[in-house]
Amino acid sequence: MSSPQTILLIHGFPLDSRMWTPQRSALEAVGYRVLTPDLPGFGRRKPWPMENCSMESFADDIYRLLLADAGGRAAVGGFSMGGYVLLALLRRHPDVVTAIMLMDTHAAADTPPARENRHEMIRAVQERGVQPVGAAMVPRLLSSAAPVELRRDISAIIGAQSSVGIINAQAAMARRGDHTDLLRQLRVPALVVVGQEDVITPPATARAMCDKIPAGRLVEIPGAGHLANLEAPAAVNNALVEFLRVL
Ligand code: MLT
Repeated sequence: MSSPQTILLIHGFPLDSRMWTPQRSALEAVGYRVLTPDLPGFGRRKPWPMENCSMESFADDIYRLLLADAGGRAAVGGFSMGGYVLLALLRRHPDVVTAIMLMDTHAAADTPPARENRHEMIRAVQERGVQPVGAAMVPRLLSSAAPVELRRDISAIIGAQSSVGIINAQAAMARRGDHTDLLRQLRVPALVVVGQEDVITPPATARAMCDKIPAGRLVEIPGAGHLANLEAPAAVNNALVEFLRVL
């Protein structure tokens, strides 16, 4: 019997592997092996020193995991910050990636105002801990119609992250480079998923990114914000299963 195909999903900011609970269940139910690592400084992982944190070093960390635990081959998905890490992985270690799922993410570097917002958040966390992060981000992560229970669950996940992990990831995202040029060079099947109500990486951004990927396919998720995979898990799971089924 051949071993099951491995799917590795990289979480976003300021979340951890728990954001993939609905996708893990759905993909395991149809026979995939699913890896949902925590990035350094999130979930159960201790933070790395700030100078060691970058999208590239996080991508190398995923690469080592794929070599150790997946025979060096997997279909890889990344949500938002996880997408930045996935693009860095494609740049540095393309041979380990068989297909990609770019979810509510984009390929560009930060604009100067976006970078300044990150530095403001870093100052707020240094002064007041993680509380301001949830307060600022939860309304932007979900559509206005999202149920109160989901808001509460996401606030709890954000509130459980460490200040150091959040600060280091913000600094690393502020420093990240632009991967737009890489999109046209991608030779693996690619699924782009975006919530139609995503205000952080809106559908127009996803469409422009998908248009540049030779084998790119776009799925827009109605009624869902940035965290489409948690707001509309059934629709996102269907999109992932349909995409993976034909690989
Ligand atoms: C995320 O959801 O991972 C973040 O919104 C990404 C970012 O801050 O650029």
